[in-house]
Order: sequence, then structure tokens, then C-alpha cells
Amino acid sequence: MTVDLLLGLQWGDEGKGKIVDVLTSKYDIIARFQGGPNAGHTLEFDGIKHVLRTIPSGIFHKNSINIIGNGVVIDPVVFQKEIEGLAKFDIDLQSRLLISRKAHLILPTHRLLDAASEASKGKAKIGSTLKGIGPTYMDKTGRNGLRVGDIELADFADRYRSLADKHEAMIAFYDVDLEYDLQEMEEEFFASIEVLKTLQFIDSEAYLHDAMKAGKSILAEGAQGSLLDVDFGTYPFVTSSTTTAAGACTGLGIAPNKVKEVFGIFKAYATRVGSGPFPTELFDEVGQTMAKVGNEFGSVTGRARRCGWLDLVALKYAIEINGVTALYMMKGDVLSGFDTLKICTSYQYNGIETNHLPYNIEPENVAPVYVEKKGWKADLTGMTSYEELPFELKEYIEFIENFVEVPIKVISVGPDRKQTILK
Ligand code: GDP
Ligand code: IMO
Ligand code: MG
Repeated sequence: MTVDLLLGLQWGDEGKGKIVDVLTSKYDIIARFQGGPNAGHTLEFDGIKHVLRTIPSGIFHKNSINIIGNGVVIDPVVFQKEIEGLAKFDIDLQSRLLISRKAHLILPTHRLLDAASEASKGKAKIGSTLKGIGPTYMDKTGRNGLRVGDIELADFADRYRSLADKHEAMIAFYDVDLEYDLQEMEEEFFASIEVLKTLQFIDSEAYLHDAMKAGKSILAEGAQGSLLDVDFGTYPFVTSSTTTAAGACTGLGIAPNKVKEVFGIFKAYATRVGSGPFPTELFDEVGQTMAKVGNEFGSVTGRARRCGWLDLVALKYAIEINGVTALYMMKGDVLSGFDTLKICTSYQYNGIETNHLPYNIEPENVAPVYVEKKGWKADLTGMTSYEELPFELKEYIEFIENFVEVPIKVISVGPDRKQTILK
């Protein structure tokens, strides 16, 4: 029996989908533990690029079981599109994709509430993906939500109506212009519920416990990143779930003492999409080059991702909160060509040097302190072994390892499954 966790250590989009896909052949079960269709996990192999939203990134491996855990929020409408996108791959979803009855449902009115809330905030908006994530988790903790298991109840339509009516009154409370045709959205919603019903609903915590007893191995897949965690992220510019290791316990029903390895995924630089503080953000040509070479556009919204230097203060913070045992460094190839690279090793916080992530990292309080490293020119994308990597990149990697005191086990040098180097 093995339970390992894989999660993002920055502001999301670190490359979790790629690595889950790479690791899946070692596991029997891949289980998503939180988030919803705000996630976009990209996989590339055999010349195909695929973006998954709610479905775990192990789905393309014939022998893996993929579970959507209780901590996930599901929008049946987005889910239906995801299922349709997989049709050409000949995957037996009925036996290989299992959904927790305790996962909460995103209603059309949750999406509208998200839009109304963001519009009402004006300049202070979170920069949400507007997928209804916040309002759905609010209904979950407020004990009003609808769950996948409710679909099997005779009065599901009544339960839906009563919650949607409540939401409509709440939308009216926001003083914003919002045009929508709820009837049309509801028709689409109920049609997609029928598609959802073609899949197996399970009591996923019981399923996972039995699997563990039977000696199966499980990889828990996180969404978003630690700096978007509702407790430990850059609040209020965060998502509404626990994106850190603890979220795998609550989002799957797996006890902490069952977890073995915690794999932390990070980019060799940093990106963020949406609003919120980002101490090492670059506003110059260097940042623009990273965005261009790294193709830094959101997989869900297509929005340009903000880019900046690697922030080791924030990375170390995320490593500590998650208990990371091994690091995976992504997108090293994007840094090829720069003469000098900077790495943030501390902050000037209100004039005092600090090594930890303080309460408020707004730009007026925080200035990053950098060390400089020599860059490399070689194209990494065709390299297949650690020995081949340029000397300067090896120095960059060793500097990070020494600073955070966790080994970097894998270096990713391109989006394809095969562009993955073991150290
Ligand atoms: P996730 O949300 O963490 O799964 O990450 P995303 O899929 O949203 O964003 C990562 C993007 O980087 C995707 O377009 C990947 O195909 C791409 N990618 C992943 N690893 C690498 C890498 O090592 N180099 C390059 N150039 N692209 C990568
Ligand atoms: P993956 O799993 C990057 C960001 C949004 C916004 C904030 C809140 O692909 O790494 P929400 O829709 O949750 O209310 O948005 O969080 N965000 C992400 N950024 N990758 C993601 O997921 C994200 N999911 C949410 O841009 O700033
Ligand atoms: Mg993503």
C-alpha cells in the first residue's frame, strides 16, 4: 500500500497534469482531492495536447482507476464537455472514472453569483476564473450545498429549485448588471446531469480504504497551488479550497499517517494568473520573454499569466506547509538564453530583512532581495539525461536544493511526457 501526494507549490499551473500523467504507470489509482473546473491540467503525448478540468490526469493510462474525490466541486456542464472531449480516445469511463457521492455540485446560479460578486468588487476583484468555485464551497461550508449523491434522490429537482431560488434572491442583492437566461442554463444543467448519471457514483472514502487494505497504490492529485490555499495563500486573492497536503486528507478521507511521499511541483520561475500580490513579478522585457517562450496563457481562461523570478522564500514556505519530500522542477527550458538569472532569497519587509512569508506581501510592504546566477544558452528540449544539462543549470538546481533542503528529483524540459529528466 502506498499513498503519495502531488501538488503545486506556487500559484497554480506548475505542470501538475504533465507529472501525474508521467507517474501514473506506477500507481493503481489517481484521485483528485479538491478544486473544480477552475483547474486546467495539460497533458501532452504522441503529438496530442489535452486539457483536463475535473477528471484526474491518470485517465489516459489503460490500467488506472481515476477517482473524483469528495473535496472536488463538479460542474456537470463543464464535465459533460470534458467527457465529450475524451470520446475519441476510446477510454472505458464507466469502469475507470468513479465519482464520490460527497462531491458538491456547481449550479448555474453558483456561476452567476461568482460573476455578481466579482463585478461588485470592481478593482478589488479576485480575478476568479468565474466557474462558481467560491459560491459552491460557501454553500458546502454553509451546509446548503447539493452533492452528487443527491442526484439519486427522488426529490433532487425540488432541492435544486429551492437552492437556485435562494441564489436568485442573492444575485438581486448585488447591485450589478448581469444578463442571463436562467431557464436556458437550467436546461443545459439538467441535460448534463443525465450524462453524469451514466458514470459510477461511489462512497469514495470506503473505496479507497478497501483499496489500501488490498495493497493498491494511490496518487492524490492536487489542483491550484499552495499560494492559492484558502488558509495559507495570499488571502483574499486565493481560491476557496485547501490546496495544501491537508486537503488530500479531507478531500479523500485518507488519514495523514497513511501518506508517504509528498511531491511538490514548481516552475523554474514563477507565474500567477488573476489578481493579488506577486513580489518577484517582472514588468519588463525579461518577464515578457518568459511569458512568450513559456507560452504563459491560462489553460482555462486564456488570460495572460504574469511572470517573474523564482521566489525561494515563498517556495520554502510551501514546502514546509506541505511536508514536501521530493521536488519536480518544471519549465527549465524556458529560462535558456538569459545571461543572468535572479533568485529571490529573502524580502525586505517594511525595511527589515525577513526569510519567511509575512502576513501582508503587498508591493508597498515587500521588496525581494535577489542573488544572481549565470544563465545558460543551450536548448534543453531535446536533452534526455541529467549529465547532458548545462553546468549553469546544474548550479541553479543545486542552489535551490541547498536553500530549501529538499532534493529535486525530476527536471522537466518541455511539455511532452518524454521531455522529463530524472536526476
Ligand atoms: P497544471 O495546471 O499544473 O497542470 O499546469 P498547466 O497545464 O495549467 O500549465 C502548464 C503548462 O506548461 C502547460 O501548457 C504544459 O503543457 C506546459 N509544460 C509543462 N511542463 C513543461 C516544461 O517543462 N516546459 C515547457 N516549455 N512547458 C511545459
Ligand atoms: P490549476 O489546477 C492557476 C486562480 C484564479 C484566481 C484565483 C481564484 O490549473 O493549477 P477561482 O476561480 O478559484 O475563484 O479563482 O485562483 N486560479 C488558478 N490559477 N491555476 C489554477 O488551477 C487556478 N485555479 C484558480 O486565477 O486568481
Ligand atoms: Mg493549470
